[in-house]
Amino acid sequence: MQIRKAVITAAGWGTRFLPITKAQPKEMLPLGTKPLIQYAVEEAINSGIEQIVVITALGKRAIEDYFDRSFELEYFLEKKGEIGFLEEIRKLSTLVDVCYIRQKEQLGLGHAILTARHFIGNEPFAVLLPDDIIDSKPPLLKHMVDVYEQYESSVVAVQRIAKKDAPKYGIIDPRTISDHIHEVLSLTEKPEPAQALSNLGIVGRYILTPEIFNVMQVTQPGKNKEIQLTDALQLLLKQQAIYAYEFSEERYDAGTPIGWLKAVLSFGLRNPTYGQELREYLDKSCK
Ligand code: UTP
Repeated sequence: MQIRKAVITAAGWGTRFLPITKAQPKEMLPLGTKPLIQYAVEEAINSGIEQIVVITALGKRAIEDYFDRSFELEYFLEKKGEIGFLEEIRKLSTLVDVCYIRQKEQLGLGHAILTARHFIGNEPFAVLLPDDIIDSKPPLLKHMVDVYEQYESSVVAVQRIAKKDAPKYGIIDPRTISDHIHEVLSLTEKPEPAQALSNLGIVGRYILTPEIFNVMQVTQPGKNKEIQLTDALQLLLKQQAIYAYEFSEERYDAGTPIGWLKAVLSFGLRNPTYGQELREYLDKSCK
């Protein structure tokens, strides 16, 4: 079955980015002139997704406004003759079908995805965490869709991490099939380094079969007392196989100040308009 729908989870508090996230959704932090969430939306579109649901929460209205039309702004830009900006602004609201569901209590990533159950129905779907920016062409999600088509099972994205960082990730126990593909034998959420069964950490891209919803409904709160997707996947594994797609492209955890800064610098340095100026500035200030 084709992967047509995607869930983008954006309801978290973003505590690692306080105080700005008190009044500004983390997903709207800029990377160049676009907010983080737009990279996830574009990755989904470029991977064949036709409909997106964004899971939001109180204080996240800026996301809805961003993907909506703004007739006042369009009128203003038209009058000023700013045709380039006008076209870019108009394009935003036509990118893809986006709708929104509010997660009324932030009970964890697993719970956030469960709120999308009626939107998804009985078909496999993608999940993207917008604070994970993956710099890959074709997009990482597209590779995962290909793996789904091969095995017709859930697929998680994994990356080699330093073992000491295991407490920041879901870690898989793999049975390696090929360069990029592993069968998942088990999953553990944020283990201590000594307990980590590999150095393959899960990052924020998933293809899930719809059976995950029934499983999620009985998943008990785990680490941080949240309903963890990793724990739900461990339960799903009792019913069906799960695969992992290992990627080696650059990934930025833009949900942390240092990860976001690295992404801003890396994208900035490659920007055709101001990359060279930024490089010269950094060279000078690093002396
Ligand atoms: P994080 O672990 O990054 O949590 O969530 P967070 O709240 O966004 O940020 P910190 O840890 O407080 O700094 C991973 C993903 O799950 C979503 C987040 O929006 C992010 O995309 N999420 C998390 C929800 O949608 N709802 C939740 O209840 C928890």
